[in-house]
Amino acid sequence: MTQTSESSSDATSDGTDVLVEASDLEVYFPIKSGIIFDRTVGHVRAVDGVDLTIHRGETYGLVGESGCGKSTLGKAILNLEPPTAGSVVFDGTDIASLKGEDLRRERKRFQMVFQDPMSSLDPRQTVENLLLEGMRAHGLDTDKDATRARLRELMSSVGLPVAALSKYPHEFSGGQRQRIGIARALSVGPDLIVADEPVSALDVSIQAQVINLLQDLQDELGLTYLVVAHDLAVVRHISDRIGVMYLGGLVEESDGAELYDVPLHPYTRALMSAVPVPDPQVEDSREQILLTGDLPSPANPPSGCRFHTRCPWKQETLCDTERPQLRVVEVDGASASHRVACHYAEQVASGEIQPHQVEAVSVESGFTGPVDGPDAPPEAYVGV
Ligand SMILES: Nc1ncnc2c1ncn2[C@@H]1O[C@H](COP(=O)(O)OP(=O)(O)OP(=O)(O)O)[C@@H](O)[C@H]1O
Ligand code: SF4
Ligand SMILES: [Mg+2]
Repeated sequence: MTQTSESSSDATSDGTDVLVEASDLEVYFPIKSGIIFDRTVGHVRAVDGVDLTIHRGETYGLVGESGCGKSTLGKAILNLEPPTAGSVVFDGTDIASLKGEDLRRERKRFQMVFQDPMSSLDPRQTVENLLLEGMRAHGLDTDKDATRARLRELMSSVGLPVAALSKYPHEFSGGQRQRIGIARALSVGPDLIVADEPVSALDVSIQAQVINLLQDLQDELGLTYLVVAHDLAVVRHISDRIGVMYLGGLVEESDGAELYDVPLHPYTRALMSAVPVPDPQVEDSREQILLTGDLPSPANPPSGCRFHTRCPWKQETLCDTERPQLRVVEVDGASASHRVACHYAEQVASGEIQPHQVEAVSVESGFTGPVDGPDAPPEAYVGV
């Protein structure tokens, strides 16, 4: 799926061509309090220091627990959520620096496909009007015949009949509505599509059709995707590279299949161990890691490694004092593009340090509910 272009000035040393480069990206949401005066009493650190590169023509899959900041990161990359700090360079241009007409012109190059097509499509508009809306906003509807032809072409691209143009969103099934959502994103001719849980609201039988459609469109149009998904099977199927997110930061990044074969970060290992394997013998013998507790609050993240309050491999030094950076490690099976943010990744991989039972760590809960006290989660159990 990955395409390369030798002409780009943004080509990396391995010849791949960078379309998006996010550096030290932060998105903090203020927490307000007070009846008369609106005081800011803290911040939700939804995205907290992310470096992310997406190559032209690839699919980058983003996984992680609910609330870890995946959607916010996707929106920040599209400038739909203004970053608190850091930069997003899109095809050589820092999009945070764009204003007015320049930003509007650039916007048609990056589009979003949402999880729930019903809530993202205005129910009072026909499909034709929904598609025309974006085209008009970008001045792409000036010639009537060409616009008509473009609308037919869009319907055909997403596998819907031309007659669908005169219908309303409620007249379609969930899968068909997602096809309309995709057609709307395509209507302005983007380079990058951020698809946020594009199939998780659909029946399993329909999910594969929509995933296949996204892949066909990528091949045909040379699109670049950032796909956010809970379902590790979906991400594995569609992604060239995968990033694992935990509490606002990337904790591991690698080529698609390698992440499943050689997961290095304790959090990734726990995620992988939760995916059922069809072979009962393999299923019975493989590593199972159950994590304790909920995700700590992003309003008050743990010090050091954000995962230390739940990590079965946590050590006495470094883990709760220094935040680990993404780095390449020398581990069998891990390639040079595989990076992990764990101080002890080599020792975890070699078995030199072993998982242990995690004490129920008291984490100040910030603003999303207590982690200790009567509602405390059970202690971790790690079975291997
Ligand atoms: N507009 C907002 N204002 C305040 N807090 C927000 C806002 N949007 C998101 N958050 C908070 O930021 C954190 C990250 O949210 P986000 O929606 O990005 O997570 P996610 O990984 O996409 O979760 P999910 O898998 O449930 O969609 C959460 O704690 C969320 O409550
Ligand atoms: S740095 Fe420490 S706490 Fe964090 S994942 Fe590695 S071993 Fe666990
Ligand atoms: Mg989300």
